[in-house]
Amino acid sequence: MTKAVIIYGGNSNQSRLKGILDKVEHFFGKEGFSSDTIYVHELPADDLIKANFKSEAIIEANAKVESAQVVVVLTPVYKAAYTGILKTYLDLLPQKGLEGKTVLPLVLGGSFGHLLVIDYALKPVLSALGATDILSGAYVLDTQIEYTENNQYLISSEADERLDRVLNTVKEKAKRHS
Ligand SMILES: Cc1cc2nc3c(=O)[nH]c(=O)nc-3n(C[C@H](O)[C@H](O)[C@H](O)COP(=O)(O)O)c2cc1C
Repeated sequence: MTKAVIIYGGNSNQSRLKGILDKVEHFFGKEGFSSDTIYVHELPADDLIKANFKSEAIIEANAKVESAQVVVVLTPVYKAAYTGILKTYLDLLPQKGLEGKTVLPLVLGGSFGHLLVIDYALKPVLSALGATDILSGAYVLDTQIEYTENNQYLISSEADERLDRVLNTVKEKAKRHS
C-alpha cells in the first residue's frame, strides 16, 4: 500500500486550504493509499521556533514523512511565498528528508500574480531537502473555494479538475512503483 503524508502549512483549520486538504485526503482514501496529515500549526510552537530537533512531536512527524512514498506540501501564499510556519517545520526535517519521494506542491493564493511561488519559492526548498521527483503541482485561487453551511468546502469545477489531474499523476506514479 502506498503511504502518503500531507504537510498542512496553513495557520488554521478554518481556512479554505482545508477544502484542498479534504479533497486530497478523500482522493487518497478512494485510491487505497494510507495517508496521514501533519498540521504544522498544531505542533508545539516553541519547538518549531527554537528548531528543537529533539522534540517528541517533531520526531513523530518526521517519522511519518520518512515512511511515506508520497509527500503533499500544502500551503497558502503569504507575502509572495509559502508560510513561515511551513518553513519552521521543513527546517526540522533531516537534511535529505525528501530524497526518493514523490512530492506534490499544492498552493492556495489570493491572486494569480503569485503563481510562481511554486517554482521560485517552494521547489528550491523541496529540492534542497533531497527531492528530485517534484510534480508540477497546482495553484488554486481562494475565490475558487467556497465555505458551505455544513462545515464543507466547495471547490470550483475548474480548480477541482486541475487538482484531479495532479492527483492522478501521483496515482499513476504509485502504480508504476508498486
Ligand atoms: C498574512 C497574509 C499574507 C498573504 N499574502 C498573499 C500574497 O502575497 N499573495 C497572494 O496571492 N495571497 C496572499 N494572501 C492570501 C492568502 O494566500 C489566501 O487568501 C488564503 O490562502 C486563503 O485562505 P483563508 O480561507 O484562510 O483566507 C495572504 C494572506 C495572509 C493572511
